[in-house]
Amino acid sequence: MAKKRKLQKAPSLRNARNPRSEASGRRKALLSERVRVPARRNARRFLRKLYRGNQRKKAVKKEAKIEAGSGKDREIEKYEVTADGITAGITITENGGEKRYNVKIQDFSFITKALLAEIRNSIVSEVLVSSTEVLDPTALEGLKKKFREKAEQLITEKVPLIKSATTNLLVGRLMQEMLGLDRIEFLLADIDLEEIVLTSVGEPIRVFHKKYGWTVTNIHPKSEEEIINFSNIIARRVGRQITTLNPLLDAHLTTGDRANAVLYPISTKGNTITIRKFRRDPWTITDLIKNGSCTADVFALLWLAIEYEMTILFSGGTATGKTTFLNVCMPFIPINHRIVSIEDTRELLLPETLYWAPLVTRQPNPEGKGEVTMLDLLVNSLRMRPDRIIVGEIRRQREAEVLFEAMHTGHSVYATLHADTAAETISRLTHPPINVPPNLLDAVNLNVVLFRDRKKGIRRVLQVAELIVDENKVTPNILYRFKPSEDKIIEHAKSLKFYDEITRYTGMSFQEITKDLSERKVILMWMVKSNIRSIGEISRVMTLYYSDRKKLLDAANKNRKLSSL
Ligand SMILES: Nc1ncnc2c1ncn2[C@@H]1O[C@H](COP(=O)(O)OP(=O)(O)OP(=O)(O)O)[C@@H](O)[C@H]1O
Ligand SMILES: [Mg+2]
Repeated sequence: MAKKRKLQKAPSLRNARNPRSEASGRRKALLSERVRVPARRNARRFLRKLYRGNQRKKAVKKEAKIEAGSGKDREIEKYEVTADGITAGITITENGGEKRYNVKIQDFSFITKALLAEIRNSIVSEVLVSSTEVLDPTALEGLKKKFREKAEQLITEKVPLIKSATTNLLVGRLMQEMLGLDRIEFLLADIDLEEIVLTSVGEPIRVFHKKYGWTVTNIHPKSEEEIINFSNIIARRVGRQITTLNPLLDAHLTTGDRANAVLYPISTKGNTITIRKFRRDPWTITDLIKNGSCTADVFALLWLAIEYEMTILFSGGTATGKTTFLNVCMPFIPINHRIVSIEDTRELLLPETLYWAPLVTRQPNPEGKGEVTMLDLLVNSLRMRPDRIIVGEIRRQREAEVLFEAMHTGHSVYATLHADTAAETISRLTHPPINVPPNLLDAVNLNVVLFRDRKKGIRRVLQVAELIVDENKVTPNILYRFKPSEDKIIEHAKSLKFYDEITRYTGMSFQEITKDLSERKVILMWMVKSNIRSIGEISRVMTLYYSDRKKLLDAANKNRKLSSL
């Protein structure tokens, strides 16, 4: 080996040092100077690829070992998920505190794989796809249909006696590979997953499991190109593009899940995709009381506040459940109130009985045209005669200014904000980049702060606060707070402002407000007891409440069935 290297290097060294061939040496040096940069770049690229390849191989080897059962993996749960008509087995294992999420998909024989490859090639060459079909998200369904029909036709031509179940299996797999996110489709289909993260080719896909938290899967991206391809598929589905010049993408999948992609080298480890899964069956008031996230007392207060058009801000850190909590509270809005919601990506899901106009922002196209910002929508929403305005997230000064202007002109606003406590809500709002003048915070009636205990995997209402404005100083008055030692949400301080405001709006005395709150609590507890939890059922309860409160209260007191009303 060493000998070989010497022999290769020798001629160039001799030439460079030989005074008689100085001219040719210089020429060569110049030449090599010219090629050195790309050569070095190529070498670096080669080494990087090799390194990533090795990383992937190592990770895959480790995986194979675990699957073969050579480790001390203990199986803790086993279930199945179905995507595109194909069932995959999911096994959750544990080894020394580390949990793993293993997906087992039916493996095809060598011959079947060859058949699938042949069909794939035929589809690519035979099915004509127009550029609008590729870029227009609404044309995707038509394109899928075309591919499916062609695949079915080719399979039955090549294997005439094939069973229809096998055809479905093969077609499903082809669709996942050609138009979908391949094996990630199984992760998307698992309702127990909250988040799916692809970091680079060197790392396995990680998922956040509702019961087990972050777990490592046995699925590895095949290459960086595959991750870029997935990003492109996601982008195309929403009519956007992700390129080296435009390497960030925030989008919604057709399933309603939210996806974010960042390309290399902006994401320094490699191309990365984060998918926040949208709950197919949204959380409701009943669910959040049942799982301890909130109490009937707190919901009764929020219900009263929402009925009487008060403004509420929902704060919390990342993924603490701000948007979920906001969404859960929206059925409290009386049915004939006009609601306009503004979001970057569609996450809210309100009952159909509500009078709701959902708006979403749009990013500019590759030529920088067609952008619709949150500020554009906010200004526009005020011309839509809304009673209630819902804003996905307050981030910048201009948006906040318009929003507070809306509050001061009599609209009730519900919005989320990144802040860990009520005190931080005040600080975030009154300092750059939001910078709202402190005296304007008087328009905020309540601030609900959400909290997530990562270790225990629980989410709780941390605080419910009023914001007390005294000249230019704002302080929170905490009405309810979470007591971690008892895992309870307890009353903390007496209200200084909220009840006065309710009295001003409604003319109710303090005693009447207290009675009103306890009646709402009876209804909420009845909903929990009778498991009235779907969004349809909740909306029915609210419709009844606003049309015949007495009848509903009577039913709750007598523990009658919702269906009998
Ligand atoms: N009270 C809750 N109990 C259990 N799970 C919850 C609860 N609230 C939210 N979740 C789950 O937590 C995840 C994050 O929720 P959500 O998107 O509402 O958080 P967020 O604070 O708005 O996040 P972001 O900071 O990204 O805007 C979702 O998968 C959701 O289903
Ligand atoms: Mg959110």
